Amino acid sequence: MSVLVLGGAGYIGSHAVYQLIDQGENVVVIDSLETGHKQAVHPNATFYEGDIRNIDFLRGVFQKESIASVVHFAANSLVGESMEDPLKYFDNNVYGTQVLLRVMVEHDVKSIVFSSTAATYGEPEAVPITETMPTNPANAYGETKLTMEKLMKWTEQAHGIKYVSLRYFNVAGARETGEIGEDHRPETHLVPIILQAALGQRSHITIFGEDYDTADGTCVRDYVHVEDLIQAHLLALDYLNGGGKSDIFNLGSNQGFSVKEMIDTARQVTGKEIPVMPGDRRAGDPSVLIASSEKAKNILGWQPARTSITKIMEDAWHWHVARPNGYVEGADNK
Ligand code: UFG
Repeated sequence: MSVLVLGGAGYIGSHAVYQLIDQGENVVVIDSLETGHKQAVHPNATFYEGDIRNIDFLRGVFQKESIASVVHFAANSLVGESMEDPLKYFDNNVYGTQVLLRVMVEHDVKSIVFSSTAATYGEPEAVPITETMPTNPANAYGETKLTMEKLMKWTEQAHGIKYVSLRYFNVAGARETGEIGEDHRPETHLVPIILQAALGQRSHITIFGEDYDTADGTCVRDYVHVEDLIQAHLLALDYLNGGGKSDIFNLGSNQGFSVKEMIDTARQVTGKEIPVMPGDRRAGDPSVLIASSEKAKNILGWQPARTSITKIMEDAWHWHVARPNGYVEGADNK
């Protein structure tokens, strides 16, 4: 039997595939390679290139492979792009998940671990954010993820497919052994942008707003190491296979760091100057997002071990130094 990882060539999905294979699982990967990278797919995984909205393609994979459970990362995930082209996001994310669930029903596959986001909450009423707080997405991306959660809820009622939805806060870092890491094109995330500036690939990093109601005026986020994050997925699979009920969990480190603190950490880790420029606020950015992950710790037994921001930055830096152009040699990765 195999675990099917959808989006296994992406940043977070590829780390899941590596850890599943470390654990001795047989892994089947599906990725459209629209944003993923073929080189990020573990050489021992069985890889199918294709789009999950194509039901015949998906049925073909489920017919050929013996799938025990599913881990679903395949989605578009850029907040800004989702505001410009919400229909692309509903089509790929929501409709894609609808097709996936249809094929899971047909093949009697009963468990799915699902990649969700803190963006389902919108601007929080208070921090740390717990799973019982209201969901009110401030962008189309977050709305699609919330809708995908609801698709799973109703599919469970009708067909008994159990799900765990994991709401990520700010994922960063890279696999410690350095084979895989973060490579988005275009890059919009803070940590890789800071490190590209440290490498001299960018002249500077622009700070999006210095007038927030925070200690130093810049936005505060909860950064979680990608390897810790993936361990929660493996625990969630065990939990579902052990008869656990469908549920939703936040994944963060329960601590907030400002944009300026992240840049200072990167200066210490890299020994580089990292020039900064002040910029305007970015539309839709909440000032402070910090997770409570007590529920994941209590119910799944999650024990994040890499919560130091220095450790997260060091692992990301090793990846960027080893692969300054990411997976595509000579390409512009800005
Ligand atoms: N930032 C800058 N300059 C940059 C890039 C980012 O100042 O060049 C700031 C942002 O304004 C924000 C912080 O750095 O305050 C983190 O920004 P990211 O883009 O790295 O991450 P976000 O917090 O915007 O987004 C993350 C995930 C999204 C998810 C969202 C949920 O990447 O997928 O959290 O709120 F939707």
